[in-house]
Amino acid sequence: MTKQDTASWVEKDKKQLHPVYHPKSHVNPLVVERGEGVWLYTTDGQKILDGMAGLWNVNVGYGREELAKAAYDQMKDLAFTSNFAGMTNLPSIKLADKLAGFAYEGLNTTFFTSGGSEANDSAFKTARYYWKRKGKPGKYKVIARKGAYHGVTLAATFATGLEKYQTMFGPAVDGFVHIPAPNPYRFEGELKAGETVGQAAARALEEVIVREGADTIAALIAEPVMSVGGVIVPPDDYFPLVRAICDKYEVLLIADEVITGFGRTGEWFALKHWNIKPDILSFAKAITSGYAPLGGIQLSDEIRETMESAAESEAYMHGYTYSGHAMACAVGNKNLELMEKENYPARAKELGKRLIEGLKTLSEFSFVGDVRGLGLLCGVEIVSDKESKTADGAMAMKIFKTAQDRGLRTRPVMNTLAFSPPLSINEDEVDEIVKRLGAAMDSLSGN
Ligand SMILES: Cc1ncc(COP(=O)(O)O)c(C=O)c1O
Repeated sequence: MTKQDTASWVEKDKKQLHPVYHPKSHVNPLVVERGEGVWLYTTDGQKILDGMAGLWNVNVGYGREELAKAAYDQMKDLAFTSNFAGMTNLPSIKLADKLAGFAYEGLNTTFFTSGGSEANDSAFKTARYYWKRKGKPGKYKVIARKGAYHGVTLAATFATGLEKYQTMFGPAVDGFVHIPAPNPYRFEGELKAGETVGQAAARALEEVIVREGADTIAALIAEPVMSVGGVIVPPDDYFPLVRAICDKYEVLLIADEVITGFGRTGEWFALKHWNIKPDILSFAKAITSGYAPLGGIQLSDEIRETMESAAESEAYMHGYTYSGHAMACAVGNKNLELMEKENYPARAKELGKRLIEGLKTLSEFSFVGDVRGLGLLCGVEIVSDKESKTADGAMAMKIFKTAQDRGLRTRPVMNTLAFSPPLSINEDEVDEIVKRLGAAMDSLSGN
């Protein structure tokens, strides 16, 4: 295709309203035509290394025929049928069976959605449902962390702890309370003498539970590694403390593993790094590596059991047309098979070390404040001054654009450049990310 073709596609594209849209953010969109492995090909002839695996989700890489075939075969037989109570289909049965106990022992029940926002909405509603069934209907609030991203349904928008997602959509939904995130580089809570960031952030959780009243709190929702909020890897002492506090006050722990699930951080699921497990798990994205829209929640056996003895008037009246979509679940089954065969968590661990070591060599640039990551989920935080750690979002944006012109796709999240490449990436391609980012930074240093 030619540049002229691209211009006409871009013109026609104006009929579409894109997610997180502002006219300035969609001036020269990349028109992507094809993908293979970690590479994207645009209509105007660019070849771009996708350091973001799409939106943190294309874990097995682009162009996998096995997944196309799984979708084709299933669509031919049965693309869709209702999965509402009273009916089911084979791919959703197989996938729920595969997922039982797969992420965490004791989480054996799956409820399917089409994506991560729906998964989190389902998690909130399920937490409320559970406490009503337990005779504690006053427990309805959800605690979340500042900087968290949980999606864009109305409830998920206000569980999210990033103001820019909320400004134009208020008033806020009632019942969400935010606490400081366990950010080792720039902790925004109060740090007492002798306390670690992990301890202080966990104390903030306990204090808010006591302040609001444990009898009003249904759950805490937390991403094991905050991603859209700046790729924040918590200190090791944080999550074990959080789990203990949740247990002490009867607060359900919802792990939002929409990004960290399915191998991204070097474990199949990320709370494994700290040997704890949630009561409810939200997943989406890499369950199909982005080849079909699918998400869901998994529930502890204790939550599931509360449903079994409910009166008919207390039915779980929640579900989406596409819950347990046959084609999407067939793709999910095949995708999991590929990820297991190719041992993706181990690859993420191994290649993640290589990526972070490479990115650390860029610390010499005056604007690189911090380099961090877990598995193949990494961030490079951009500051205007290393000493004061002043965030420099404008510089992060410049580096992002320059890197894209040099054939590397990253994503500025706050003032941090995120990296979350396909887990199918090889060593040379990891080195290529570092090389291209370094060249982009070099061309801007001194500007
Ligand atoms: C941690 C987390 N939760 C939820 C979501 C929302 O998922 P979706 O965009 O599929 O609705 C995202 C999306 O990026 C996410 O990163």
